[in-house]
Amino acid sequence: MKFFVDTAEIEPIRELAATGLLDGVTTNPSLIAKSGRDFMEVTREICGIVDGPVSAEVVALDHETMMKEAEILRKIAENVCIKVPLTVDGLKTCKALTGEGTMVNVTLCFSANQALLAAKAGASFISPFVGRHDDNGFDGMDLIEDIRLIYDNYNFATEILVASVRHTTHVLQAAKIGADVMTAPPKVIHDLFKHVLTDKGIEGFMADWAKTGQSIL
Ligand code: E4P
Repeated sequence: MKFFVDTAEIEPIRELAATGLLDGVTTNPSLIAKSGRDFMEVTREICGIVDGPVSAEVVALDHETMMKEAEILRKIAENVCIKVPLTVDGLKTCKALTGEGTMVNVTLCFSANQALLAAKAGASFISPFVGRHDDNGFDGMDLIEDIRLIYDNYNFATEILVASVRHTTHVLQAAKIGADVMTAPPKVIHDLFKHVLTDKGIEGFMADWAKTGQSIL
């Protein structure tokens, strides 16, 4: 499973990229606003840190203007992935852009039927929002299971990008279902490394090693 980080903050991206475990980045208008940075400038900087797809979202609601915005965004770098909302105009834009060889991430997906439409529109990624789905009394993981089943039934190449990930259990469940990608805030990715028994084990080994009086270097 590929790991994307869901942020527009440079430092956490650098830190995670240095682990060699980061496959891409997702941003959205809210994350750009939170960063306080210029959209074009911060997207360019992120694209220079990671080799994988960097999602940059259009903000227009009509197809024609979405295409104009995408034209500007895709010139930023080769690894820019244009993010469009799951609407009629968004999917028209998706079809046109992927037809020209541009990566597209279809966002704000909350039903398996929407995911089916996105795959038919040739989306590179579909982003079902599991956390927001859970918040509204549904089971986000049921949605991922349904999309996996449908995509496998028809051999769709669209990758399932589990988004709105809130905790490490979401990551585990997504991996068990066979989602292709997950995007999570930096904290959730850092939490994946943690286990109380790992910390305890290191503590024990260090204490015993100190007793030997030896050193490797
Ligand atoms: C995905 O691409 C979105 O940016 C993101 O995962 C939304 O998550 P949120 O529900 O935590 O805002």
